[in-house]
Amino acid sequence: MDQFLLFLLLLLMGRNGLCQQEEVCTKSVINSCDDCIKSGPYCVWCKQLNFTKAGEQEAARCDTKAQLKARGCGEEEIISPNISIKPEKNVPLSKSFNQQEPVQLSPQEISLKVRPGLPITFNVSFKRVEGYPVDLYYLMDLSYSMKDDLANVKKLGESLFQALKEITEHAQIGFGAFVDKTVLPYTNTNKEKLLKPCDEEEADQQCQAAFGYRHVLSMTPSEKEFRNKVKDQYISGNLDSPEGSLDAMMQAAVCGDKIGWRNSSTRLIVLTTDAGFHMAGDGKLAGILEPNDEQCHMEGNLYIKSSEMDYPSVGQLAAQFKKHNIQPIFAVTKNMEAVYQQLSNMIPKSEVGVLTSDSGNIVQLIKDAYNRLSSKVTVTHDNLPDDVSVVYKPICKHPQPSDNEGICDNVSVGEEISFEVTVTARSCMERKSFTIRPLGIKDTLTVTLSTNCECECEVDETNHVHCREKGRVSCGICRCNDGYVGQFCECAIGDKDERSLRASCQRQNGTECENRGDCVCGRCQCHRTEQGSYFHGDFCECDDE
Ligand SMILES: *[C@@H]1O[C@H](CO)[C@@H](O)[C@H](O)[C@H]1NC(C)=O
Ligand SMILES: *[C@@H]1O[C@H](CO)[C@@H](O)[C@H](O)[C@H]1NC(C)=O
Ligand SMILES: *[C@@H]1O[C@H](CO)[C@@H](O)[C@H](O)[C@H]1NC(C)=O
Ligand SMILES: *[C@@H]1O[C@H](CO)[C@@H](O)[C@H](O)[C@H]1NC(C)=O
Ligand SMILES: *[C@@H]1O[C@H](CO)[C@@H](O)[C@H](O)[C@H]1NC(C)=O
Ligand SMILES: *[C@@H]1O[C@H](CO)[C@@H](O)[C@H](O)[C@H]1NC(C)=O
Repeated sequence: MDQFLLFLLLLLMGRNGLCQQEEVCTKSVINSCDDCIKSGPYCVWCKQLNFTKAGEQEAARCDTKAQLKARGCGEEEIISPNISIKPEKNVPLSKSFNQQEPVQLSPQEISLKVRPGLPITFNVSFKRVEGYPVDLYYLMDLSYSMKDDLANVKKLGESLFQALKEITEHAQIGFGAFVDKTVLPYTNTNKEKLLKPCDEEEADQQCQAAFGYRHVLSMTPSEKEFRNKVKDQYISGNLDSPEGSLDAMMQAAVCGDKIGWRNSSTRLIVLTTDAGFHMAGDGKLAGILEPNDEQCHMEGNLYIKSSEMDYPSVGQLAAQFKKHNIQPIFAVTKNMEAVYQQLSNMIPKSEVGVLTSDSGNIVQLIKDAYNRLSSKVTVTHDNLPDDVSVVYKPICKHPQPSDNEGICDNVSVGEEISFEVTVTARSCMERKSFTIRPLGIKDTLTVTLSTNCECECEVDETNHVHCREKGRVSCGICRCNDGYVGQFCECAIGDKDERSLRASCQRQNGTECENRGDCVCGRCQCHRTEQGSYFHGDFCECDDE
């Protein structure tokens, strides 16, 4: 028990030590300035001539800046690789929406030169442009129980456009419908039933043949067009309760040209339904094993792989929504709220609203959901290289805590907010880039990152007097000409080469001077012991203890 407590105590102390971020330089094997720089974020190199005493290891030149200065190294003699933050593209935020591409994120490109382990911080600003266009795709469940909803949606056009006009002059609406895969057990495949899958009680009603997903109307600013197209829609039907909603949303997300999503717009899919949804794996029930490939498979206006390809997984759908900046609004009946809330939890930038049984409240629902979606700004990253970490600190009125995202809540249109982004590379690496962006927004910041792990030491043109005129100085160290070795190139090796000179500092199979001294011209110069006397012996093998 005691031991356990002691262990805990040590652990806690260790933690504290780490948290204080003390600037230390733990040296490993260091023979050059480059080795030094690579050995830790706070290690720097003193290139001052004569900084090391005769026989002292050059590793002594490597330490923290404070230590080196304390030991007499001049400020200008300290080599510390440059780190830099350079905005490469920095178009200022747009004041309002103009017909060109408005800028909502600044800067757009930045290049960083960092040292491994040393965090670097910069700011990125975001402002939602007033009047930014909205594209809304109304995706409706046309299974039989949605009959009265369809009747209402046919009258919806005017109020829907009006609501969007309050947000922007540049609103467009599209329409699509879905039921489910037209195979058993989802749909009755009796020939007659396929053609007319509705309930039989009302014989005179108009019923459309069973279908999976049909795109009806591409994005249009025209209310009249919306009314005309939706007018021609009829209810359909299927057997089981869950629908093929995920199939429909996947196609609506990936078939951009078909749907008519604009590049610069807030993209919303409003899914209205009163039932749950099938997802990846459910296809097995019908013997459909081919996984969803997240591609567009529309011919005419119909999803043609409906009966061949499994439903997408929630993860696949979430990834495509993120990629295409689509924000879904699940407008579902009360009994389905919990189910879609769970789905929404797995899809960033999505909202759930409760639909009255006849969809009468849909316009208010969309308005509320849009406001919630657009007032919450979440920045995150894509393609982050291994060994790089990013931390966001939101600077706004209502920041929200989050581990690997930056979140500001209750942000209004035209309000400028920013995020302090801290990037840390953990190792030396080639030039790499990644992107940072607010979810659901097209604007991105491309971060190009490279590490600086080398010393730029100019090498003298001519032999230096410091190196006995037998070598050149680089980063304060002598680079000796052929035939000379030693700290100051003071050893002429004659017919011996450097290796045999070094070998004469080793006892049989031993290390050079037993690690207790330096090999100078083939002879060991021994270091001090901890007690202050010197090691001695040909190989420093003796001490007086
Ligand atoms: C280095 O030390 C040597 C002798 O120990 C001296 O001659 C030389 O001037 C010194 N060089 C510098 C740059 O201080
Ligand atoms: C590093 O910074 C120093 C001082 O700012 C500058 O003189 C030098 O040119 C920089 N080196 C590089 C490679 O950018
Ligand atoms: C980022 O912006 C905040 C607030 O404007 C400021 O306090 C901070 O110093 C900035 N950070 C950097 C790295 O520029
Ligand atoms: C929209 O963006 C895509 C991909 O970035 C690009 O290929 C296309 O030309 C853009 N369209 C317009 C109208 O800017
Ligand atoms: C955001 O605003 C709404 C009403 O305007 C308020 O109820 C909510 O608490 C606010 N959220 C935060 C995080 O302040
Ligand atoms: C030293 O190395 C030689 C050959 O490499 C080997 O035969 C000998 O046993 C070694 N001696 C010791 C003490 O390890």
